[in-house]
Amino acid sequence: MKQILFNLFVDEKIANNLKNMTNCEIGELMIRQFPDEETHIKIESDVKNCDVILLASLDRPDKKLLPLLFIAETVKDLGAKHVRLIAPYLAYMRQDKQFYPGEGITSQYFAALISHYFDGLITVDPHLHRRRSLKEIYTIPTEVLHAADKLSIWIKENVSDPIVIGPDKESEQWVLEVANKAEAPFAVLEKIRRGDNEVEISIPAMGQYKNHTPVLVDDIISTARTMIETVKQLKNAKMKPPVCIGIHAIFSGGAYQDLLNAGVEKVITCNTIQHASNQIDLSEDIAQLVIKLKREKI
Ligand code: R5P
Repeated sequence: MKQILFNLFVDEKIANNLKNMTNCEIGELMIRQFPDEETHIKIESDVKNCDVILLASLDRPDKKLLPLLFIAETVKDLGAKHVRLIAPYLAYMRQDKQFYPGEGITSQYFAALISHYFDGLITVDPHLHRRRSLKEIYTIPTEVLHAADKLSIWIKENVSDPIVIGPDKESEQWVLEVANKAEAPFAVLEKIRRGDNEVEISIPAMGQYKNHTPVLVDDIISTARTMIETVKQLKNAKMKPPVCIGIHAIFSGGAYQDLLNAGVEKVITCNTIQHASNQIDLSEDIAQLVIKLKREKI
């Protein structure tokens, strides 16, 4: 079956590598706003009987969602056989329980929406905390890629004497794997989030690691408060300025500059969300997974 890829909201590098490695066609479409700000979709490529891939990183998701769902529906109307979403960053994973009475469990509602419009989903390190797997909320086949290998290679090649640090319990899953693969010691800190922009971090005694370079690893950098608070605590503990690594570079508002100003050595992210800090390219991993699924006819 012919495979055709539409790049909606993703780093060109990922789309180009997918095209080159999988021999899929790059589809053409037009998205524009009518004067009343409703969305107009026009698919220019022939998608009849095709296996369609929509590439869309879902940071800042609310604006992207309607066009995305309309495109999925349009290609199906035009005869596409299978419509898969590759969302290197998957949104709405953090509101996975009712923290306060009256709140919506939006991770569940979002999963139901995506499962309704797509036949399959590929993503990178979704924020699975209280849920163990996407399969608990997504009813379509889901495939998850992990950035840990690439992060540890980067650390090995670029940091001498690293100590890998996870800012909170939730980060332990990445930190442990990354540290093992990078053959580095690790520590997991404790975090209490008091609000969107307020976190408290406590660190254990780190005296034995004074000559190491702290490498903070987290899945998401959003307000960067988690990283900034950790940087402060490391400074108080007289550790060296840390390298901060995030998988998904959300960086809301002025968060990137705030983190750079906090006294870090470097800020590095993967290209799941396009950002100036992207240094770790996951396009080959994504392309290889698409090739594997095609071979296995999934
Ligand atoms: C926590 O649940 C996540 O793993 C990250 O630590 C968190 O999303 C980072 O958010 P922020 O940059 O807003 O502190």
